[in-house]
Amino acid sequence: MNHRINKLLNHPKYVEYLNKISNHEAGRLFCTHDLTHFLDTARIAYILNLENNLNIPKDLIYGAALLHDIGKWQQYENGISHEVASGTLCVELLCDAGYKSKEVDLIKSAILSHRNPSVEGTKDLLGIIYVADKLSRKCYNCKMTNQCDWSDEKKNFNISY
Ligand SMILES: [Fe+2]
Ligand SMILES: [Fe+2]
Repeated sequence: MNHRINKLLNHPKYVEYLNKISNHEAGRLFCTHDLTHFLDTARIAYILNLENNLNIPKDLIYGAALLHDIGKWQQYENGISHEVASGTLCVELLCDAGYKSKEVDLIKSAILSHRNPSVEGTKDLLGIIYVADKLSRKCYNCKMTNQCDWSDEKKNFNISY
């Protein structure tokens, strides 16, 4: 079912949203929200899935990871929290890519909770997306770490994956 991941990747609106974020983040010194971050998140979440024998389908993990920050441009333009913006924008993209409505609901929940520490450690899609998002960041090699608004608990000071 990996073709759904690639349908998502090639959706004209997905490409458009990635470009909008990239334009807003040109010259940004803090973490960026680009395909590299989305794939890092997807791959770490998939490793967590395998290590914990969760058996979550790959295209659910990649769907959530590829879309979790996709509304970041709306945060730059309108001040809408990007998890909320991403949770709204994901629906059309997922439906067009062939995800079923229950799968869309689950992915949307994971996107909406990706900044909510209460899902950290839960052995499900929400928990692994939350953790993978944080572990994907190279805080251990970041010049902006003192100005970053992430708490020290959220920051990733070690290589785990
Ligand atoms: Fe985010
Ligand atoms: Fe993220």
